[in-house]
Amino acid sequence: MKDGTLCIALALALGLTAGQTLADDLAERARSLFEAVPQSPPVIDGNDITEEKVALGKMLFFEPRLSSSHLISCNTCHNVGMGGHDYLQTSIGHGWQKGPRNSPTVFNAVFNAAQFWDGRAADLAEQAKGPVQAGVEMNSTPERVVATLNSMPDYVERFREVFPGQSDSVTFDNMATAIEAFEATLITPGASFDRYLQGDEDALDDSEKKGLALFIDKGCAACHGGTNLGGQGYYPFGLVKKPGADILPVGDKGRFEVTRTASDEYVFRAAPLRNIALTAPYFHSGGVWSLEAAVAVMGTSQLGTELSEEDVSFIVAFLKTLTGEVPDIQYPLLPPSTDTTPKPES
Ligand code: HEM
Ligand code: HEM
Repeated sequence: MKDGTLCIALALALGLTAGQTLADDLAERARSLFEAVPQSPPVIDGNDITEEKVALGKMLFFEPRLSSSHLISCNTCHNVGMGGHDYLQTSIGHGWQKGPRNSPTVFNAVFNAAQFWDGRAADLAEQAKGPVQAGVEMNSTPERVVATLNSMPDYVERFREVFPGQSDSVTFDNMATAIEAFEATLITPGASFDRYLQGDEDALDDSEKKGLALFIDKGCAACHGGTNLGGQGYYPFGLVKKPGADILPVGDKGRFEVTRTASDEYVFRAAPLRNIALTAPYFHSGGVWSLEAAVAVMGTSQLGTELSEEDVSFIVAFLKTLTGEVPDIQYPLLPPSTDTTPKPES
């Protein structure tokens, strides 16, 4: 007897309807593969999340003077009023330069096992030091950042309060630690899928449940699991069939650049899918604008399956249930520049 038939036979014996059992079974399977986004920020090793640190991290996240032009902040490319990203194919940074990759959302990034499309930064604090210095992003240096922050008494005071007992608390590392604390608060609980995982059977409608079942049964969940439905492991993009160069540009070899191991060519982190309906365009290349098309690409490239239009639309209906409640963020007041603040450079 097949498992499903056995379940139904048992259910009938217990006086339950087959529909109820299959539904419970789906919820049970979902709970074994995915976790709900928690209501409060997770604990981060070595970085206590205090109110003052989060407030400072928020100022730094919105601080355009961390860039040499005084124009670009983290929020430029990770706009927290717009899904935590920039809706561009690939980001535009210093001097109007177009970067090589699409900007992922900062929402729920704290749940990823490692940061960036290729996972090259272990955590959010390590990650935050990258864009500030990247020539195509904010084009600054740790020295310039420290000089900038030290030129504004309000920042100096806040760093002292948040990092007490240090002879010099205005450091590049502390900047990154504070930004990490703020980013840990950028979580989006309360998606319909979370309510479903927490036992509310009616949180998903029939189409969304069909999509969830397909997401599990077709094999998507094998790579896209956990709290973020992704962000945990690395897989070749084009495991079964490589997509065209418009989606998988030949020049970007993914994790190979990190590990220099031949088998890591075109290997990328399985993208986190939380709030995926808010984060077009898709893939590290940003080469696909429609979620339906992105799901179809995954079918052929990762599973070797041509998904039917109907299956794609059920899966997309499910993916839309991953949109959570975005935190309500008030734009911070930033201290005025002083005579000693390094001048903007183009
Ligand atoms: C990746 C935060 C500035 C564009 C990321 C990620 C985080 C993040 C957490 C990884 C997300 C993930 O892997 O899922 C920040 C912070 C910034 C900042 C805290 C300020 C200090 C910028 C700016 C730009 C930008 C100014 C655009 C000019 C990108 C891009 C990626 C990325 C393109 C993906 C890069 C790759 O995978 O190689 N950022 N970001 N970021 N960010 Fe930012
Ligand atoms: C990316 C969905 C199966 C690995 C994505 C994206 C979506 C998606 C929507 C784009 C995310 C974004 O741009 O932010 C699905 C669905 C699947 C499926 C619906 C089943 C039909 C798989 C499987 C694997 C996988 C089985 C692993 C073998 C990846 C990887 C990326 C990705 C590595 C990042 C690609 C890149 O570098 O641009 N997936 N996925 N996916 N998925 Fe899947």
